[in-house]
Amino acid sequence: MTDDPVPIETRLSEPEYYRPPPSFVGQANVTDPTVFDEFDQFPEGFEAYAERLDWDERWDTVFDGSDPPYFRWFTGGRLNAAHNCVDRHLEEYAEKTAFVWEGEPGDCRRLAYQDLYREVNEFAAALRAVGVEEGDVVTLHLPMVPALPISMLACARLGAVHSEVFGGFSAPALADRIADADSRHLITIDGYYRRGEFLQHKRKADDAREQLDDDVDAVLVWTREDDLHPATELTERDVLVGDLLAVHRGDSVDPVPRASTDPLFLMYTSGTTGKPKGAQHGTGGYLSYVTGTTHSLFDIHPTDTYWCFADIGWITGHSYIVYGPLANAASSVLYEGAPDHPHRGRVWEIAEKYGVDIFHTSPTAIRLFMRWGESHLEPYDFDFKHLTSVGEPIQPEVWRWYYDHVGGGDSVVIDTWWQTETGGVVLSNLPALADMKPGYVGRPMPGISAAILDDDGAELEAGSGQAGYLVLDRPWPGMLQTLQGDDERYIEEYWADFSDLDSDDWRDWVYKAGDSAVEAADGYFRVLGRIDDVMNVAGHRLGSMELESVIVEVPDVAEAAVAARDHPEKGQVPDAYVVLREDAEAGAEVREAVREAVATDIGKFARPDHVTVVDSLPYTRSGKIMRRLLGEISNERPLSDTTTLEDPAVPERIREQVSGE
Ligand code: PRX
Repeated sequence: MTDDPVPIETRLSEPEYYRPPPSFVGQANVTDPTVFDEFDQFPEGFEAYAERLDWDERWDTVFDGSDPPYFRWFTGGRLNAAHNCVDRHLEEYAEKTAFVWEGEPGDCRRLAYQDLYREVNEFAAALRAVGVEEGDVVTLHLPMVPALPISMLACARLGAVHSEVFGGFSAPALADRIADADSRHLITIDGYYRRGEFLQHKRKADDAREQLDDDVDAVLVWTREDDLHPATELTERDVLVGDLLAVHRGDSVDPVPRASTDPLFLMYTSGTTGKPKGAQHGTGGYLSYVTGTTHSLFDIHPTDTYWCFADIGWITGHSYIVYGPLANAASSVLYEGAPDHPHRGRVWEIAEKYGVDIFHTSPTAIRLFMRWGESHLEPYDFDFKHLTSVGEPIQPEVWRWYYDHVGGGDSVVIDTWWQTETGGVVLSNLPALADMKPGYVGRPMPGISAAILDDDGAELEAGSGQAGYLVLDRPWPGMLQTLQGDDERYIEEYWADFSDLDSDDWRDWVYKAGDSAVEAADGYFRVLGRIDDVMNVAGHRLGSMELESVIVEVPDVAEAAVAARDHPEKGQVPDAYVVLREDAEAGAEVREAVREAVATDIGKFARPDHVTVVDSLPYTRSGKIMRRLLGEISNERPLSDTTTLEDPAVPERIREQVSGE
């Protein structure tokens, strides 16, 4: 557990409820409240999700908890994810739009299920031709272009495990993830558009390869336009996807039936140590969970146009742009670019153009829209019946703005809490079954058992007003299987604090989310944020230690600590505190070197605005940095207990240094 005490919650002042509009309730997919009782028949309740898929062989055991915490779902079953997302829809929905893609400059492309089928098959044939086999890990480093879902599904079709690295990650971050997963194949693209500029994306793949001890066997290069961008250079290991596809035109590849427990993909995420961890998701449990929750929560019907305005490079996109929506034969919008390019109405222009009626985004985006003001929405004619939010706590005033100005006061607004590790949403109100309450994410989803524990592991009662550790105390099919190559860390990060580690009864195992939360008397949860050294920067998850390990590589820096500062739009931003080597000079240069190191080694989205040079960091007597105190300084809050520090005067000195800047 962390050294930091869990903060005591002060309740939101006026609890207010908003009814879902009758017009929404009348058409909703799930309107029967007994769904909760059905799913509480553990584990059989979850079969209802698995039944929504096509299985090559049906499972013989719903849940195998015999080797905790390695929980296995739908064992004995076999299925293929690409078949479930594409092939099985052809009979009824061949002509239905799977994705309509809007490029930032305004070019667009519609992919019907029939088109997606063809593209996935041809690319799967191409992958096989370059040596990709069932069980191999294929690394993808792709932005928001159709090539990304096509590549994911082509891997899934072959039974290869994809590991998509968010396009904004830099070359060293990509290299780390390729090496950690022991991946022999890399898929990239020449470039893409961002704020009007064509970014030379493939250069990151070239630089990443230079850093690998063991080079990949092949790099497959998609092109943003028909032809390779003239500035893109190819090396001897690069293969142009267009050349491969020319050979495999019209090819089809039988989907490889995978055991339900075989991995489908890896998704690297940040934790409390410097090294990112590869969350491994299985095939049957994960796909069942995202398919079921897409149906019940996003409430997609055949006639709807759904837009999850997020990046496929993070878990939100995997679960609720690619796998969940496609398994439900949804029609979705994909957008390549920035929300303000070439103008601030871009998002609403796209919503109007394609008739989007279900819209999903993050509080960071909503706060940005809020800052731009209502007037930027006015020229556009859109009509959403269903709005959702994910990734960070949504403040009540932000919720209300979303409800009033984006939803027009007559749509449902759903907050959804979950994590890379949970695979799908685990806390949220089913839209037709509960009143909305701004600032509260809602109750656990069907079949999910959540609780809030104090430092000693005792459960805090609903309505106690006290915040504690948010835990999930019963397994669910969407949960991660382990961390890539690191079972020990899997136990340490999620299970060690509140489980009986010697027990082989799954009931003694409790998953710690790493967030603090409070449960109101009505059973609604309010999530307050991370209580470990992980922050959430504009919806991107970053570990303090991950940033620190990059910063200490700057030649003039001896020690570094990173704390989160609250930010009105991004939610949080990292503040860096550094101690310099004796001969180094404090000044603008070293601060810029720190910022640049983070941008180069992790990505521009992680770059700290504030870098403060200090004499010493607040170490405890046992040698741990108390980042909590730095967070208090960054946020201009009073300092909490400093008595366990080696030198209790350090935080005050740092505060003076910050205010003297
Ligand atoms: O702190 C919580 C926050 O995002 C973390 C998970 O980040 P990641 O694995 O990148 O997945 C993000 C998208 C699912 C959580 O530990 N978080 C996510 N959703 C919410 C949230 N915090 C408050 N409210 C939410 N709705």
